[in-house]
Amino acid sequence: MCGIFGCALLGDNSGEVLYASLKRLEYRGYDSAGQATINSGRILVAKDVGRIDEVDSSHGMSRMRGRIGIGHTRWATHGAPSRENAHPHLDCSGRIAIVHNGIIENFMELRELLQKRGHAFKSRTDSEVISHLIEDFMRRGEGFVGAVRLTAEILRGSFASAAICLDEPDKIVCIRRESPLIVGIGEIGNFCSSDIPALLPYTNKVIPLEDGDLAIVDPKGVRILDWRTGSAVEREVVEISWSPEIAMKSGFAHFMLKEIYEQPMAIRNVLRGQRIYYELAASMLRRASKVFLVACGTSHHACIFGSYAMANLSGLASYPVIASEFEAQYKNLIDEDALVLAVSQSGETADTLNAVRAAKAKGASVIGITNTMGSSLTRLSDVYIGQNSGPEIGVAATKTFTAQVVVLLKLAMELAKSGSPRSGIDSLAEELAALPSKMEEAIRTSEEKVKHIAMKYSAKGSFCFLARGVNVPTALEGRLKLLELSYLPALAYPAGESKHGFIAVVEDGYPVIFLAPRDSTRERIIGNMMEMKARGASIIALIERGDEELKELADDFIEMPPCANELLYPPIYAVPLQLFAYYTSTLKGYDPDMPRNLAKSVTVV
Ligand code: F6R
Repeated sequence: MCGIFGCALLGDNSGEVLYASLKRLEYRGYDSAGQATINSGRILVAKDVGRIDEVDSSHGMSRMRGRIGIGHTRWATHGAPSRENAHPHLDCSGRIAIVHNGIIENFMELRELLQKRGHAFKSRTDSEVISHLIEDFMRRGEGFVGAVRLTAEILRGSFASAAICLDEPDKIVCIRRESPLIVGIGEIGNFCSSDIPALLPYTNKVIPLEDGDLAIVDPKGVRILDWRTGSAVEREVVEISWSPEIAMKSGFAHFMLKEIYEQPMAIRNVLRGQRIYYELAASMLRRASKVFLVACGTSHHACIFGSYAMANLSGLASYPVIASEFEAQYKNLIDEDALVLAVSQSGETADTLNAVRAAKAKGASVIGITNTMGSSLTRLSDVYIGQNSGPEIGVAATKTFTAQVVVLLKLAMELAKSGSPRSGIDSLAEELAALPSKMEEAIRTSEEKVKHIAMKYSAKGSFCFLARGVNVPTALEGRLKLLELSYLPALAYPAGESKHGFIAVVEDGYPVIFLAPRDSTRERIIGNMMEMKARGASIIALIERGDEELKELADDFIEMPPCANELLYPPIYAVPLQLFAYYTSTLKGYDPDMPRNLAKSVTVV
């Protein structure tokens, strides 16, 4: 996601400090950058699309003067990458500047309200409402800090935001809910930052802000209030001993592990996605006579899930197809009534883009689902939905897979609203809202057990993943993660298919990983387990918590949180499989962040 940095210095070199700190946030991924400082009674702003060095050479970021400043690296979510959409954003008078990381859920209604009150917006971002809200409260007599506090109260969604104002030019006011924000206490001044690596050159004394905190950062000190009550709060100063490299990974050994842990947050961001895009996409899907779900690799597995979800919830039949096979298989079926739903984390995968172009050339409509706003896929799509997972640095997709699954589930639910009884969808929606906490639980409760199983089986030469129904795409994804990170020739099948060939491979001790939640597939999965067991296979089962019968049957098991609706199993059961691939890879001495021969974005056919 976006990165923010602020400095309140004893000297007036904030331009140089901001520029250097934004460079340290670069590893998070970004499409534009900018900074604002207060100098001689004015707010100076330098911002643009492109690398920080490019923005610096065209706008002189590092030469900006002033003791107080804020900076930002932007990963577009609302509004394409452009100079207008880059942060910082000003209010109408140019007296307030803000930077923001997170998603403001109610920005459309706030923007409308503010426009009616005479505010003029320059960008298409959700963030710009923050500067105008602060301005609005100040116009009504509030001081700067009070106005930021009141603004925090009416924002819905997630935010880490820092604001500066000419009326009180000696301070930065920061607020936090859900998105990370850390205050740094230094010798040359005080700071706020999205993460620790950017702070380390200036200080190792930090205060990680908590939800509801408002921090007033000036060159000589930091005060923290609770923005919900206005009362002062005490926070512990923590001394950091991390190396810069470990700090970039927030203390995790690899980006992949960090990204596995980021999944609850990534799902929260999907759940915050603007409904209007789902409505638009659903109305296109309803009108289409043929629907193709086109993608590669992990994104293809998400599409298989999407196809199950749309059929089960709304009765819509769709064809999930590997992008490089799309033309060979379906070119004669593509016409103006066809619809291609293309899913691509990067939005730049050549095979997916080629399939989209071929479909467009024959008049088909295109819906894109991507993590990268401004990517080629967003430009080629008639409508696109952002999955808002934030940049993924590990080459293997983790958080972007579970986010795609949830985007597709939301889309299937939107489609279902016109068809099936609302009560089913309403209870699914309630359970979906609790999914991020179930993911947290899945990570927390499975990691140690997975580590133990990875140690026990890491010397095996092959594995097979079996599942049924909506869990099949998760099994395929578990296989892909394991083979790409551990270089093991792993297999995966719908379990019913296993006796049509795969069973010949099974011999004593061959490890078979079953996805066996307590759902409509359970009875038959037990039958498949028996078949494998009878041939000497070692059974590793992902089971629902407390399923004593399967504990008896399996050689090893991992207990997972229960779900009332089986469509929620895939993102939860993906977690231990990602962890299994991660730990098997590290046990073998490989680097899970950079598997050999693979690239994060495959831009060649
Ligand atoms: C696997 C993985 C790849 C990608 C595939 C498509 O971990 O990351 O299989 O899923 O290359 O990439 P996108 O989604 O960017 O089109």
